[in-house]
Amino acid sequence: MARPIQIAPSVLPADFSKLGREVAALEAAGVDLIQWDVMDGQFVPNLTFGPDVIASARAHCTVPFEAHLMVLTPDVMAQQYVDAGCSRLIVHAEACTHLHRTLGNINSMGARGAVALNPATPASAIEHVLDLVDLVLVMTVNPGFGGQAYIPTMEPKIARIRAMIDAAGLADDVDLEVDGGIGPATIQGAAAAGANVLIAGSALYRDPAGLEHAVTELRGLAEAAVA
Ligand code: DX5
Repeated sequence: MARPIQIAPSVLPADFSKLGREVAALEAAGVDLIQWDVMDGQFVPNLTFGPDVIASARAHCTVPFEAHLMVLTPDVMAQQYVDAGCSRLIVHAEACTHLHRTLGNINSMGARGAVALNPATPASAIEHVLDLVDLVLVMTVNPGFGGQAYIPTMEPKIARIRAMIDAAGLADDVDLEVDGGIGPATIQGAAAAGANVLIAGSALYRDPAGLEHAVTELRGLAEAAVA
């Protein structure tokens, strides 16, 4: 059975001076989980959330947290992000010398490991770790900043990874996530290609009708694309 459509925000566009209220508002708007874009200023030219920031927001909502670790050394701080309340850690294949070991270590911490691929990285990079993850993230922008344009040439890669997941007999166990430039004009292409977890930042926060309208609209568009 196809994995359900999930709409999840990137917290990047939120007001960082009131993150507790921001995550509560996201939960009230109907998001399925919240993604924290963790950036170290080295893997990507931006710097964002340490584990203490995430821990401070944890008590303000009940939806799952996932940390998208756009960092050079995910092994060094993985446990701290688990301790901060993230139930999934997404590491970049490009940042892991020993990706198989890193994912296994995360799973041993009581969180679920997941793997992200930058636009230039081929789907084959995750061929031998699908049994260690509950999600594969296909970046539809080059990581580091919100508000970038969706890269439509990622859609064949999304489809290939969906086929890999299904061929491995993991269709009921592994989600396929996309992140970057997801909005009303792009979500249907990504969902039709095989993505079922859709990350949106700008599209949620720039909707003049508010967060709940944006979440509901994106969910409806994605579900219509796979109906
Ligand atoms: C890139 C970030 C963004 C963010 C979503 O490193 O990961 O993709 O989550 O940004 P929008 O939805 O504004 O493109």
